Amino acid sequence: MDKLVIEGGRRLKGVVNISGAKNSALPIMAASLLTDDTCVINNVPLLKDVDTMIKILRALETKVEKKKGTLIISGKCKKVKAPYDLVSTMRASVCVLGPLLAKKKYAEVSFPGGCVIGPRPIDLHLKGLERLGSEIKIKSGYILARTRKLKGAKIYLGGHFGSSVLATANTMMAATLAEGTTIIENAACEPETVDLANFLISMGAKIEGHSTPTMRIKGVKKLHGTRHAIVPDRVETGTYMLASAITGGELFLKNAKLAHLFAVVDKLRECGVKITEREDGVAVKRNPKQAVKPTTITTLPYPGFPTDMQAQMMSLLCLADGISVITEKIYPERFIHISELSRMGAHILLEGPNAIIKGVKNLNGADVMASDLRASAALVLAGLVAKDKTEVHRIYHLDRGYENLDKKLSRVGARIWREQE
Ligand code: EPZ
Repeated sequence: MDKLVIEGGRRLKGVVNISGAKNSALPIMAASLLTDDTCVINNVPLLKDVDTMIKILRALETKVEKKKGTLIISGKCKKVKAPYDLVSTMRASVCVLGPLLAKKKYAEVSFPGGCVIGPRPIDLHLKGLERLGSEIKIKSGYILARTRKLKGAKIYLGGHFGSSVLATANTMMAATLAEGTTIIENAACEPETVDLANFLISMGAKIEGHSTPTMRIKGVKKLHGTRHAIVPDRVETGTYMLASAITGGELFLKNAKLAHLFAVVDKLRECGVKITEREDGVAVKRNPKQAVKPTTITTLPYPGFPTDMQAQMMSLLCLADGISVITEKIYPERFIHISELSRMGAHILLEGPNAIIKGVKNLNGADVMASDLRASAALVLAGLVAKDKTEVHRIYHLDRGYENLDKKLSRVGARIWREQE
């Protein structure tokens, strides 16, 4: 396995190209199972998770061609079993459940795996599909879902922590081919859910209210092929905003859109970061002579502050001039980065889902490791500004979710490289 070596202390300056959103691309790839026609998907990020989803689609005997950032998915899927060895590595694999059920009336999908960020139940996925008229059993670690005919229903999809992005995706995808109308209450409103809905609409699905908590889907008999470009990745954008902020740098994030990042932008501005939107992207700048201001953050479903940006924001707040508080309301245990940031000299106290961060003057390089994608990104950010050398081990998770992170950072002045362990 590779590790990343970072020599901190360089101000980043230049242009970073923002890739397509991982969390849009994965469910959209699964949605292509809903048609026998060809779907062409552009602006797909080159990531391990995308490769895993390609393998799953191929295991279902669908044809997938990959040409740089374009995927051509075609042909009837013949198999209905998504196997453990693939599904266990990535949570988003569960997205094939809804489309397989709708198209083939039967699906066998292994329980999903993914990052270690606390319990990640799938009760809402199963509730959505059951309410549409399917019967679900769990056997030998697999979800077995069967239906004679899916029928539209009124479904409340709220859980203990609010709406669910992928449960909304699974239910919405299955409902596109159900008989009658489905109403999903407390539907996720994340930009990736909206991108998926737009993809389905371009295939002939009848969906309304897809950026609101009440989504209405009128089932159709058949969906057809389409061509679609994935939206820019808001979490990748946010991560590079923080790379600029933490190094007191000046980055232009090409293709980035602020529309999906208001909560993050609002907090960064509060911390003293200057952010300006232009036609082709977003400029992010922080004056290194001025201290980062502390703030309070609570993660919430969209349009609240995203949990996927919590760890990276914490790295910046470790260096703020005062005390900050972060409350994690989506995954109350998603704090794996705290122990690693503390190894680098951060002062953080964890009280249940609240992290209290007392800013320090400097972070120091160290050997660190994280088994969560965004936590790993937070450690890279800390490494960019830490004194001396930081080694981020087990970067498997970073490769799952950030396209060429090390190369993109080196191009704007970071001293970062990959070595074999
Ligand atoms: C999506 O995961 C993202 N993954 C995650 O991104 C992201 O952290 C998360 O949404 C929240 O925004 C993809 O899109 C591929 P949820 P998802 O269902 O859909 C609870 C990243 O770093 N819940 O919206 O699996 C759940 O435990 C990742 O890119 C239930 O209770 O998350 C959590 O507390 C990691 N029952 C809350 O809902 C369920 O059946 C929101 O989770 C499902 C979820």
